Amino acid sequence: MEFHARLVRWKEIEDWCISIRDKVLDSYDPDVIIGLSRGGLVPARILSDMLWIKDLYAVKTEHWGITAKADGKAILREDGTINVANRKVLIVDDITDTGSSMMLARDYVFRHKPAGLKTSTMLHITHSKYRPDFFAEEVEDKNWTWFIFPWNVYEDILNLTLKVLKDPMTLSALESALKEHFDLNTEAADLEEILNYLAARGRIIHSGNLWAPARPS
Ligand code: ADE
Repeated sequence: MEFHARLVRWKEIEDWCISIRDKVLDSYDPDVIIGLSRGGLVPARILSDMLWIKDLYAVKTEHWGITAKADGKAILREDGTINVANRKVLIVDDITDTGSSMMLARDYVFRHKPAGLKTSTMLHITHSKYRPDFFAEEVEDKNWTWFIFPWNVYEDILNLTLKVLKDPMTLSALESALKEHFDLNTEAADLEEILNYLAARGRIIHSGNLWAPARPS
């Protein structure tokens, strides 16, 4: 086993956002949401709806290059349109894993003198060096998992597939390999549809009933 990976369902996203909504409502009254792009964009939009906050901005943090591999230091980009002075901010991301993205975003927003600043994620891994004010679920280090969120399925399935697809394989052999290497159950995804698309885009090769990597790896 290289590491654990699992597909997250939309229903879980909804439940986790409801849990954050209720925790926020108990103790905070934000008037601006900042979603961390890309992972926090969809949760931020859902929370903007649930909390009736129309002021929604995005800040881009970059850290995780290829599925389940953190590339060096987190960096932050934004386009200058964020106005948080004297307003109560809620920063939203999908997960705190290393915690670097959230710390970077918190420091950045703090420099813009908000009236209040709190953070939320759907999932919080206990080894993270930053603990968000609100999160829906805590994940113990020993249960570390790569969560394949519904908005990252193509990217993650491609990356995980390329890790196991060294020789041509049938669809069912590939499913077994993903299960063996990552304990990944692909039932919740239409793996064949995704693979066909990846083949059409030249990322893998489909010939007969076999799938193969596009170039030797
Ligand atoms: N981004 C950072 N850590 C992650 C994880 N464990 N699963 C999915 N996305 C992540």
